[in-house]
Amino acid sequence: MKGIILAGGKGSRLYPVTRAVSKHLLPVYDKPLIYYPLSVLMLAGIREILVISTPEHIPAYEHLLGDGSRLGIKLWYKVQPVPRGLADAFILGEDFIGSENVALILGDNIFYGQNLTNILKRAMKLKKGAVIFGYPVKDARPFGVVEFDEEYKVVSIEEKPEKPKSNYAIPGLYFYDNKVVEIAKSIKPSKRGELEITAVNNVYLERGELNVILLGRGMAWFDTGTPESLLKAAEYVEAIQLRQGFYIACIEEIAWRRGFINTEQLRTLGEKYKMTDYGRYLLSLVNEQN
Ligand code: G1P
Repeated sequence: MKGIILAGGKGSRLYPVTRAVSKHLLPVYDKPLIYYPLSVLMLAGIREILVISTPEHIPAYEHLLGDGSRLGIKLWYKVQPVPRGLADAFILGEDFIGSENVALILGDNIFYGQNLTNILKRAMKLKKGAVIFGYPVKDARPFGVVEFDEEYKVVSIEEKPEKPKSNYAIPGLYFYDNKVVEIAKSIKPSKRGELEITAVNNVYLERGELNVILLGRGMAWFDTGTPESLLKAAEYVEAIQLRQGFYIACIEEIAWRRGFINTEQLRTLGEKYKMTDYGRYLLSLVNEQN
């Protein structure tokens, strides 16, 4: 399974903050936003990842994350010249995906919860078709929305409906078989001029190959497109980290716990940041080991 992080777009709902800085580099408490989606792919066990962003912001991502080797993963970068929608990721990523299945995560989506690793494991078992998620929200109108019948079979998928048929939003994390590339090429732009991920999901639905995993109340999901949601996510991360002492989306820790890097490599990474709590946290993991 390959992974794609889509970190494009203008971030216009965050202007003036994002006039000169990419949205996905903004801090969510103590780390850049893109660490959060990256951590989800790494937790899933995905080690080959393509980061897609705008021409002006790609150099900053390369500077931040490099080729991934310090995390024991491989990172590639691809420019999205114009924001053409989420499904464009599969067209831009065609060569990278090759003949494999692929997971897509949006650069501004944050997931956290005890059961997350198990849920990702389930999704990673995908052989054929698609796996998407449903997450209960108070107001589903700004999202893709999934409707079920009494037996929880999917009846419809709608993008930003005025009258949602359920309160289950579809978060920005999707697992697809290799056919997604051809499907993405075949769909037409929506009224807002975008290749919608909802159109892709509807093709899988029509084929009877769309699986939806419902996320329960124990899971936190944030999409951080506005100043309020960015602040709420940061406050959540701060509260959990200060209370429990465990870090959320600590990509170095995940790389180490997953065996992508060894303890010596983790120590080197911790030493680099040892002037911060973040670096000291990494070093505390090394010491806990000894
Ligand atoms: C996109 C998708 C939508 C999904 C949302 C999750 O919306 O189109 O289906 O629910 O991401 O963050 P957008 O961010 O383009 O408004």
